[in-house]
Amino acid sequence: MSLSQDAIAPHGGVLVNRIVTEAQRQEFLAQADTLPRVRLDERALSDLELIAIGGFSPLVGFMAQDDYEQVVNHMKLANGLPWSIPITLSVEEAIANALDIGTTIRLDDPTGAFIGVLELTQKYTYDKNHEALKVYLTNEEKHPGVKVVYDQGSVNLAGPIWLMERRPHPFFPKYQIDPADSRALFRDKGWKTIVGFQTRNPIHRAHEYIQKCALEIVDGLFLHPLVGATKSDDIPADVRMRCYEVLLAKYFPHDRVTLAINPAAMRYAGPREAIFHALVRKNYGCTHFIVGRDHAGVGDYYGTYDAQYIFDEVDSAALGITPMMFEHAFYCKKSLGMATSKTSSSLPEERVHLSGTKVREMLRRGELPPPEFSRPEVASILIDAMKVASEV
Ligand code: ADX
Repeated sequence: MSLSQDAIAPHGGVLVNRIVTEAQRQEFLAQADTLPRVRLDERALSDLELIAIGGFSPLVGFMAQDDYEQVVNHMKLANGLPWSIPITLSVEEAIANALDIGTTIRLDDPTGAFIGVLELTQKYTYDKNHEALKVYLTNEEKHPGVKVVYDQGSVNLAGPIWLMERRPHPFFPKYQIDPADSRALFRDKGWKTIVGFQTRNPIHRAHEYIQKCALEIVDGLFLHPLVGATKSDDIPADVRMRCYEVLLAKYFPHDRVTLAINPAAMRYAGPREAIFHALVRKNYGCTHFIVGRDHAGVGDYYGTYDAQYIFDEVDSAALGITPMMFEHAFYCKKSLGMATSKTSSSLPEERVHLSGTKVREMLRRGELPPPEFSRPEVASILIDAMKVASEV
């Protein structure tokens, strides 16, 4: 079937594919030992993969200066399409100085294995403080996304990339569903409307509630947890994946949900990242995208609904995916069900609210949080994982 039969076009109209053909691969392998090398960190490796598989369409490589500046200052690519997060490959000045424009650079993964190439078209310096303030809305180094910017190199290398091979994910191969595959899957299932759900946490009742509200309206749910780099106190992806499996098995309609991993690294950029998350899910074939409270937030850097308000600043036709906004969801003891302030008249004390810190403390003590907050099957997995972590 042709892509034109998909429910939604990729961002920019064409699904990018920068995975080498066998002939190209052999050609690059033959030069492997003579090419200048740059070693990627975990985040750059995720970005390389996402560019190659089309998750970052229309990007075909790491951003050149005109794209970078438009994105940072105006949330647009140089061609005018909405885009909110810079996708850059930064190196130290000494490394950049040794690389000539026009050369092919060998990209190695964090273990030193040959994973891709960059056709170097440009090198440019950039203002980290400005990027931090525009994208993360703070220049405090304790913000985990800002810290990455300050720690990275001072020169961005730009140009189209190629991925040498699409390796199966080392831990979750069966959930590695790339954009071309998710699009095919949605077509096969006959889904015309698909809602994407971003998460970096286990799914608690509030998440489940907003997913199910969305499922009342659209044909399918694309549960798309992020499994790239996260901050050290986030719950590890393998533990989260076990939680999703148990939850889906018991509490969701099997034929209306697809679980797949998103290899991206987390930026914690709140509002800017909500737009970015939506665009990536558009490339995977989603027509809708859930944005709840404090989406992609960290600490108290962003207002509860800032990640929703930012959609007003973007041309919705050019964005091309419909956000589904949800207010803070909670269990309402008065109506005995999940609700938000849009659907409940309960007083604050009639709502089950637990802070992340409080839940973590309970789990660490081996106590199940109330079932109104978390399904017991999910909480048990988290308790076991914390026990194992504390024994290490
Ligand atoms: S995120 O960093 O990936 O956004 P998380 O996994 O906690 O964090 O959230 C996934 C999605 O659920 C986000 O859209 C977030 O806004 C939403 N969300 C999380 N908790 C709630 C809640 N209690 N009420 C409404 N939306 C929520």
